[in-house]
Amino acid sequence: MTDNKLRAYDGATAVVTGAASGIGRALAVELARRGADVVIADLQAELAERTAESIRASGCKAQAVELDVRDYAAVEKLLKDTAERTGRLDYMFNNAGIVITGPALYHTIENWNNIIDINLRGVVNGAHAAYQIMYQQRFGHIVSTASLAGLTLGLGEIAYATTKFGVVGLTKCLRTEAALWGVRVSVLCPGLIRTEVLDDAGVYGKNLPGMSQGQRKQTVERFRPMDPAAFARKALDAVARNKPIIVLPWWWRVWWWADRISPSLVMWFFQKQVERIKRDIDREQQQG
Ligand code: NAI
Repeated sequence: MTDNKLRAYDGATAVVTGAASGIGRALAVELARRGADVVIADLQAELAERTAESIRASGCKAQAVELDVRDYAAVEKLLKDTAERTGRLDYMFNNAGIVITGPALYHTIENWNNIIDINLRGVVNGAHAAYQIMYQQRFGHIVSTASLAGLTLGLGEIAYATTKFGVVGLTKCLRTEAALWGVRVSVLCPGLIRTEVLDDAGVYGKNLPGMSQGQRKQTVERFRPMDPAAFARKALDAVARNKPIIVLPWWWRVWWWADRISPSLVMWFFQKQVERIKRDIDREQQQG
């Protein structure tokens, strides 16, 4: 190792999962722009390569790697190879994730297992493998993307919220232990960011019946989704300040505060919203 100090971000080595698209892509572009050597790791190999090419075309450092975050051996190998190649691993962004929305009634056990495998097991894989390396180095920062749905209720997001609460829990526990060895741990909790998942649950996600696409889009637009590039800039500033729980855009924190002050009040509000969705479920069931 050349030195034992975390770099923010010039000269740093960063691995970003789910970096071929959306938030991960924006984080990778901004990390590279700030001087990091970035590994774009994603299941969509071609798209990852295109992202890496566009970063290199702007004179910055990036390379693409096909990765399935569900595969621990592959995650571990990627991190070891990266640390060996560059002599360090400053950042591990566990960002890959999918969305499955709809009432619990319509979730199959396969839906549950799929989202747990990617959103929760995938983050565990990344955090565990990175921690082993960062512990040896005595520096590094593990940053996982959860969601506001990992802090409070989200409409029609039962399985998604289960995984994201897990990611927040992992972060809080690991942060306290890892600090003993100079390793930082943070979690990003985006509100709504304008990426593919807002329109059609993304490439690997799913919108289950119970809330029409039109309704979902209308609800999402009411909350004015943030641009991913603006999100990445603010998120990286907060990561550099070692903030533990990073909620962006900032005003979504109001929901989080409300939940901490009165969980019953927030549940009452969501109960009202769910009653509206029940009308859709009843109509769908009548139509057979
Ligand atoms: P996106 O669909 O644009 O990007 C997700 C990326 O993850 C895709 O490139 C996809 O190929 C990749 N991916 C999916 N499964 C994978 C696997 N098994 N292994 C490796 N890569 C895989 O979606 P977006 O919005 O950029 O989501 C990124 C993260 O942000 C997710 O964890 C999501 O839950 C979270 N998030 C997004 C919000 C939003 O409003 N867009 C709000 C809150 C959280």
